[in-house]
Amino acid sequence: MTILGIESSCDETAAAVVVDGRTVRASVVATQIEAHKRFGGVVPEIASRMHCESIVPVVTQALADANVTLADIDAVAVTGAPGLIGALLVGVNFAKGLSMAMGLPLVPVHHLRGHVASNFLTNPDLAPPFLALIASGGHSHIVRVTGYTQYEIIAQTRDDAAGEVMDKVARALGLPYPGGVHMDVTAQGSNASAYKFPRPRLVDADTGKPSLDFSFSGLKTAALNQINSAKQKNADINIPDFCASFREAVCAYLTEHTLRAAHAGETVVLAGGVCANERLRSMMTDSCQRAGLPLVLPEKRYCGDNAAMIAAQGYYEWQAGHVAGLDFNARAGADICEQ
Ligand code: KG4
Ligand code: ZN
Repeated sequence: MTILGIESSCDETAAAVVVDGRTVRASVVATQIEAHKRFGGVVPEIASRMHCESIVPVVTQALADANVTLADIDAVAVTGAPGLIGALLVGVNFAKGLSMAMGLPLVPVHHLRGHVASNFLTNPDLAPPFLALIASGGHSHIVRVTGYTQYEIIAQTRDDAAGEVMDKVARALGLPYPGGVHMDVTAQGSNASAYKFPRPRLVDADTGKPSLDFSFSGLKTAALNQINSAKQKNADINIPDFCASFREAVCAYLTEHTLRAAHAGETVVLAGGVCANERLRSMMTDSCQRAGLPLVLPEKRYCGDNAAMIAAQGYYEWQAGHVAGLDFNARAGADICEQ
């Protein structure tokens, strides 16, 4: 089963050709980072326009790289939700047009399900059930994956996402967009205990017990306050040490909650852009080893947004019969448990 995957939920226009959900024949990603850099974040209107410009060349390139034509494609999988609505619409309408013109099944894919599926691309033996930490620019979830299209949300952020706070704190330090990536590089080899940050602890409203949910806004505010107060006093901030300390706080928080959520011996899987973070990868590796939990990491090139992960998940959605008609529409928000 050869699937053409299309992804346009945020600031990458991507297309990929994947066979049977596991074998990547081609993966093309056109990033818009340069266009959004001077604004310090993604400008939705610019993103939509650039998706319109890139979608045909990117799909054409993916087919050429895979050495196939549209006649070799068995289905079109496309990110349907969640994301920037104007950006999603470009991929969805392109996929609809292609599906109608070629008589191919149209398979909508939830973006976060795609991030989880990025692990299938480089770990051929991975199969549900497992526990996934999904950490991206827009989401921070711990999800139990009970089947290829079945999920149980164990924890989620009650405010900001992990990637979002890294981006915002990095921006306040004067690092370029996207800040999380630059913070990671700047932090390498620096002192991670030079600056102190609180560890937010939430309580479950029903049970009164410690919650597995995340809250990143307090961590962000603590960092921004330290930066602002140093500026007011004309004091210097050691940027590499600050990056290392903040990265350590975010990674320790993500790791601690994921390990608390895991059952004995359960396989732990990382997914989403933040999982490219060097410290998160090393901390998770050490912690899971100590706890006797098998750990699976996505290859770094499949951590950020790409279409290979959408085609991979598309294969399992198609197997489950999740095929859409031409009345299908993109949605800005959707729970990972919704189809
Ligand atoms: O999954 P993704 O590409 O897009 C969303 O679905 O949001 O994630 C993007 C996020 C951004 O916040 C970016 O700063 C962060 O992932 N990110 C990183 C690293 N690489 C990307 N954060 C920390 N360390 C990294 N190495
Ligand atoms: Zn993403």
